[in-house]
Amino acid sequence: MVYKYSISILGTGYIGLCSGICFASKKIRIIASTHNKEKAQMINDGQPPFYEKGLQEMMNELNKINPELFKCLINPVQAVLETDISMITQGTPMRKDSSIDLSYIERTAKEIGEALKKSDKYHLVVVRSTVVPGTTRNLVGKIITEVSGKEPGKDFGLCMQPEFLKEGDSIEDTLRPDRIVIGAIDERSGAMLQEFYEYFYGDHLQNCPVLRMNLESAELVKYGNNCLLSTKISYANEFANFAELVPNVDIAQVMKGVGLDYRLNSRFLNAGVGFGGSCFHKDVNAIKAWSKSKGYTSRLLEAVLGINDDQAIHIVDMAEQLAGKLAGKKVALLGLAFKPGTDDMREAASIRVVNELRKRGITDIIGYDPKANKTAEMEMGDKIKYAKSIEEALKDSECAILITEWNEFKKLTPDDFKKHMKTPNLVDGRRLYDYDTFNKALPFRAIGRINLE
Ligand code: UDX
Repeated sequence: MVYKYSISILGTGYIGLCSGICFASKKIRIIASTHNKEKAQMINDGQPPFYEKGLQEMMNELNKINPELFKCLINPVQAVLETDISMITQGTPMRKDSSIDLSYIERTAKEIGEALKKSDKYHLVVVRSTVVPGTTRNLVGKIITEVSGKEPGKDFGLCMQPEFLKEGDSIEDTLRPDRIVIGAIDERSGAMLQEFYEYFYGDHLQNCPVLRMNLESAELVKYGNNCLLSTKISYANEFANFAELVPNVDIAQVMKGVGLDYRLNSRFLNAGVGFGGSCFHKDVNAIKAWSKSKGYTSRLLEAVLGINDDQAIHIVDMAEQLAGKLAGKKVALLGLAFKPGTDDMREAASIRVVNELRKRGITDIIGYDPKANKTAEMEMGDKIKYAKSIEEALKDSECAILITEWNEFKKLTPDDFKKHMKTPNLVDGRRLYDYDTFNKALPFRAIGRINLE
C-alpha cells in the first residue's frame, strides 16, 4: 500500500511511542526504532513498555485494522531509509552536574547521517526532544552534515518542534494540542512540517495556532513552558507558607482568587508537597546550567528549585509538630508516584520526604501507592516498606502523610484513619481532604492553612 507520509520515530519513550501511535491511527506509516531489543519486541507484540492511559487500546485497535501502519525496528538507519521524515524523540536526561545529557541525541544524529549518506532523496529531520538552544543546528545539523556529506537546506531539512504532552494525557495532548511550534532552518523545512500537520490534524488546526520561528526560539519555548509551570507551583507553595503564618487563611481560596484574574489562570497553582516527574527538574536544571555556561546566573530558577525541595522538609516539620518526634514511630505515606494516574517515580516528592524522614532518624516508614509500589521499590529499595493496601499502611502507624492525590485516597473518611491507626495524625500534602471536616474529626494539618481554635 502507498502512504502519503512515512515517518521514522527514533526513540520509543512517551513522546515517541504516543505520537507514533497517534500518527499511525490516521493512516500515516510509522517505523519506530529503539536500541532495546526487548522493548522493540514488546511494541511489535502490541504491548506498551510503560503504562499510559489509552495507549494499549490504541495499539490493539491498530493491530486489528492494519498492523503494517506501525512497526518497531532495532535499526535506526533502516528506519530512516524507509521514510521521508525522521523525528528524534530520544531522552535528554540530567547529568550529575545537573546539565543536559545529549549523548542519545548525538548517537541518533550519527545514525541519521549514516542513512542519508546512502540516500539521494531529500529528507526532513525533526527534533522533538527537549534540547538547549543551539542543539538542533550546532549538534544535530552538524553531525548529520559531517557523517552524510550532505548539505542542510539542500539535501535535508531541519526542524525543531517541541512537545508539550503530559503523562496520563499523552494521547489526548497529541491528538488535540493547544498550539504547534515549528522552528525551522529554512522555509522549505518549516513548510513541509506544517503541511504534514495540516494533513494529520485537519479541522483541529482551526483552533490550534501553528507558530513558525527559528530553531533556537523553538528550543527555548519548551523551557519557557516548563519553567513557568514550575514557577507557578513554587509560587503557590511560597504563598502557602505565607498563608500558614496567618491563622484561618486558606491557600486554596487565595489561589482561586488570584487565578481568576483574566491575565493569569488557576491551573498549576495548587500548593502541595512539591512537583516531580521526568521533565520539570530536568528542564529547569538544564536551562539553568546552560545559561550559567553562557555567563548568566538565573536567580529565579534557583529559587523555584529551592522552594520545591523545601516543601519536603516542611511537610515533615508539620508531621512532627502534629505528632511529636517521629523517631521510633511508624509513619505511613499515602501515594508514592510523582502524580496520580502513573507509576512513574522520577523526581517524585515521596523520595524527598523519605530522605528527610530518614535524616531525622525515622526509619519505620511504610508506603502505599495504587500503581507505583513496584517502581517505588526499584527507586527506594528497602528505605521503606511497601503496603499492599491502605489499611496495611495505616495499621499501627502514628502519623499518615498524603503525598499523591489518588482518587482511592479521596474516598477515605476521618473514621478510616481513626479505625486503623495507632494515633490518627494526618498531614494532607495535596489539599485533598475537606479541611473543616477533617480538622474537627482528628489531629490534622494541611499545606497552606492553619486553624486556631
Ligand atoms: C509536564 C508538563 O506539564 C508537560 O507540558 C511537559 O511536556 C512535561 O512535563 P508531567 O511531568 O507529565 O508534564 O506532569 P504535570 O501534570 O505537569 O505535573 C508535574 C508535577 O507538578 C506533578 O508532580 C504534580 O503533582 C505537580 N503539580 C502540578 C503541583 O504540585 N501543583 C499543580 O498545581 C500542578
